[in-house]
Amino acid sequence: MSIPFSPHIRAVHSPPISEVKGWLATRPDIGLELIDLCQAVPDYPPAPELVTHLATLLDDPLTSKYSPDEGLPEVLAAVCETYRRKYGAQLEPDNLCLTIGASQAFWLAIVTLCQAGDEVVVQSPYYFDHAMALDMLGIRGVYAPFDEASAGLPSPAVIAALITAKTRAILLVSPSNPTGAIIPPETLQELYSLAQCRNIALILDETYNEFIPGGVRPHDLFTRPGWGEHFVQLASFGKTFALTGYRAGLLAASRQFIQHALKVQDSMAVCQPRITQHAVRFGLEHLDAWVAANREMMARRHDLFRAEFMQPGNPFRLSASGAFFAWVRHPWPELTGRQAAKRLVDETAILCLPGEVFGSGLEGYLRLAFGNIREEAIPEAVRRFRKMAA
Ligand SMILES: Cc1ncc(COP(=O)(O)O)c(C=O)c1O
Repeated sequence: MSIPFSPHIRAVHSPPISEVKGWLATRPDIGLELIDLCQAVPDYPPAPELVTHLATLLDDPLTSKYSPDEGLPEVLAAVCETYRRKYGAQLEPDNLCLTIGASQAFWLAIVTLCQAGDEVVVQSPYYFDHAMALDMLGIRGVYAPFDEASAGLPSPAVIAALITAKTRAILLVSPSNPTGAIIPPETLQELYSLAQCRNIALILDETYNEFIPGGVRPHDLFTRPGWGEHFVQLASFGKTFALTGYRAGLLAASRQFIQHALKVQDSMAVCQPRITQHAVRFGLEHLDAWVAANREMMARRHDLFRAEFMQPGNPFRLSASGAFFAWVRHPWPELTGRQAAKRLVDETAILCLPGEVFGSGLEGYLRLAFGNIREEAIPEAVRRFRKMAA
């Protein structure tokens, strides 16, 4: 007899990336090099000057110690300065908590806001880790359906209709994982007003915000008087500075919100690792040009990917794309997304994610992280899709 596990955890699917990467162990050798469009990881290393800087800190005994739960004051100050330039925000350090990736920022936000039985309205297709966390916590995700005509952008009217007395938050991701769609500032403004009027939170995950073409300001929400009463932002430095393994995230919210969230932080992780904090500070203070160059490179990857993928004769259809991702319809109505993705890895050595991990009813789609591969590798990747029989 084995110990019983929580029914919530048993009901949650295993991590999709691990599942899909697990297929590699049994795939047939077809003589093609693998093209990995699965987990979103920039292919390039961190900036060399950042790595050199971190190396100088390893001898310092302080580097291996805890920091305050919210992070080191000088790192929080660097975030405030960056947010002033990027968002026009007048943040104070007590509006912030550095976290173990945007992933942990999400947990802080949700545990601070919700209890089991509450509801969160989530735009589909959603980021699967969000849905997994809600399920584990016994919080009901209420999913706004994917609308292909609007490339998955949220509709304030649809979202408004899903809000009930149990709703605690609206959860959005922009740029979206998986569609790449960038929510226009006016729509965010409308959704913020909706959250304000229903007295719930607008949680916005901006993990990919540095890949918005042109580096334009994603929104003005931080400039609204009293913004923190209804707005909570999750951010990641992992993709921005190619530091996904450093687990570098951020929660930005009202002072009161952060005070409660720090209870979660303390019991969950205590603090973001100090070495990560130094990396974040260095990046924010020294790497604007490096980040901008990568943003431009990503935009070129996107343009090339779209141009190649949309040439006539491709049995796959581009449904939406942007920032780091393409969301495509596969040509096999009889196959689920899992079966289609498995077929692609077995027959043409392309690894990607099945649509259904981003929401139910999305078996006809696949997510491709074109941001993972260099520009010169894109034509070959697209050629492999085009050669598949419909
Ligand atoms: C939308 C979204 N949020 C959060 C994360 C997690 O980011 P981090 O690595 O900073 O935890 C990801 C990672 O892929 C993501 O796509």
